[in-house]
Amino acid sequence: MSDYPAPEPLIQVLPEAESLGRAAAARMASILLESPEGMPLYVALAGGNTPRLVHDVLSTTFRERLPWDRIFLFWSDERFVPLDDERSNYRMALETLISKVPIPPENVFPTPVHHATPEEAADAYEETIRSVLGERGFDVVFLGMGSDGHTASLFPGCDALEEKLRLVRAVDAPDYADPRQRITFTLPLIARSEHVIFVVSGADKRDALRQVQQGHSHLPASRVKSHGTVEWFVDAAAFGEESPA
Ligand code: 6PG
Repeated sequence: MSDYPAPEPLIQVLPEAESLGRAAAARMASILLESPEGMPLYVALAGGNTPRLVHDVLSTTFRERLPWDRIFLFWSDERFVPLDDERSNYRMALETLISKVPIPPENVFPTPVHHATPEEAADAYEETIRSVLGERGFDVVFLGMGSDGHTASLFPGCDALEEKLRLVRAVDAPDYADPRQRITFTLPLIARSEHVIFVVSGADKRDALRQVQQGHSHLPASRVKSHGTVEWFVDAAAFGEESPA
C-alpha cells in the first residue's frame, strides 16, 4: 500500500454531452497512442447509456487512428441477461462501437452471461481476466456513476464493495435497478488499472458528484483508485453549472 495519499482525482467540466464524449474519447486515445508500439492495450468499457457519447467519437473520429488490432475489450460490469438483450452492456457497445471499428472479434471478451448463474459467470470472467492479463491491470477502465453514487455494479452498502481478493463478483443490485442480477469488477481489480476514466452526464448525477468530489468515502464511486490516474469527465449539468446559453 502506498505511503502517499492517493492523488486528487482530476476533473474536466464540458459544456454539454457531445463535448463530454469528445473529451473522454480523446483522453482514451491519448493514453493508448502513448503506449509502446506493439504492446497489447486492455480496456474495460462502462455500461449504461453515457458511454454512447464516447463510443460515437471512437467509432468515427478515432476509427482510423487507434491500433484496434492490439486493443482488447472487456466490461467493467454487465447485466446478467443474454448478450442480445436490449439491457445488455455488451449489446450497447456492439451497436455503438464494436460493429463500427476494425477490432478483431478475438479481441473482444464479453462477460460470459451464458453460464447458469451470475456467480459462475463472475468466476469464469475472473479466470479469463487472470489468464489474459496475468497480474497486470487494465490500461484504461471506463466507469459511469449512478445518481446514488454507484459505479460499475458496486452499489452503496453491497458486500461486493468490501471485496478485498476477488477481481469479479456477482451482485444483486437494489430493486430500483433493472435487472438486479449483475456481474461487476471489484475495487481491487479497478485499483490495478493504469487509468480510470469516469464519464458522467446529467443533472441527476449532481448531488452524488458533489459528494464524491468533496471526498465522501461512503459512495462507491469515491472509493475508486488506480495505479495512475482517476480522471472525471463531466458535463455542466452534472457539475451543477447551467450550460452556457
Ligand atoms: C450499468 C452501469 C452503471 C452505469 C451508471 C450510469 O450497467 O448500468 O455500469 O454503473 O454506469 O448507472 O448509467 P447511465 O450512463 O445510463 O446514466
